[in-house]
Amino acid sequence: MEKLRLGINIDHVATLRNARGGATPDPVRAALAAEEAGADGITAHLREDRRHIRDADMEAIRQAISIPLNFEMAATDEMARIALQTKPHAVCLVPERREERTTEGGLEVAADQTRLAHYIAPLRDAGARISLFVAADPAQIEAASHVGAQVVELHVGPYCDAVDEGRADDAAAELKRVTAAAAQAHDLGLEVHAGHGLSYTSVAPIAALPQVMELNIGHFLMGEALFRGLPGAISEMRRLMDQARAAAV
Ligand code: PXP
Repeated sequence: MEKLRLGINIDHVATLRNARGGATPDPVRAALAAEEAGADGITAHLREDRRHIRDADMEAIRQAISIPLNFEMAATDEMARIALQTKPHAVCLVPERREERTTEGGLEVAADQTRLAHYIAPLRDAGARISLFVAADPAQIEAASHVGAQVVELHVGPYCDAVDEGRADDAAAELKRVTAAAAQAHDLGLEVHAGHGLSYTSVAPIAALPQVMELNIGHFLMGEALFRGLPGAISEMRRLMDQARAAAV
């Protein structure tokens, strides 16, 4: 099985910085620390309301790191303009609602295929690898294969919530859906990633899925970093991912 990549989402370093309005903690420093600790990529979400990452952060992160930058964004004209200027390695399109605390559902691809195909084309032409953050839903995954995306990132939030809340039957059912979605996406020629809500207790079954090539993890690791430091928090996640991968072979 190929090695599983770990993308670190550093949005919440900016959340903490913005709580005081100053310059610390610095998300660029976090990105560099994550790179030093073995991250394979950095993910940052420039939201419409700029509640955490800001335009200048995105540019500064891209210039500072030597690993790929995954620019997470809503499929709006404003974000397309910024992404075309920033030239990230990858773009991950997510749904966005102002009132949500975090990205809640997957992107509606099936009902928006024509618009998304036109939206994706120039970003792809500019060299970005396009990922769509979708629910583990066969119709959305099928649609993702028609609009020019190279990657789907499977929304594993429902599975992680069930694990965190001790709902074993729901966790098993959600894992089944994610497993089927990963196989379907792979068969359609899409690279498969997964993310949202992953922690030390939920990561192993997702890391063991052979089609999954990358995990993107943020909130849990930033919280864990308070106690172990960012390098320690990331190393432990890396260890659990590698262990699950090795056990699955
Ligand atoms: N992937 C996507 C597409 C996301 O929107 C998020 C949350 O911003 C993550 C991964 C990371 O999720 P978490 O912070 O819960 O680990």
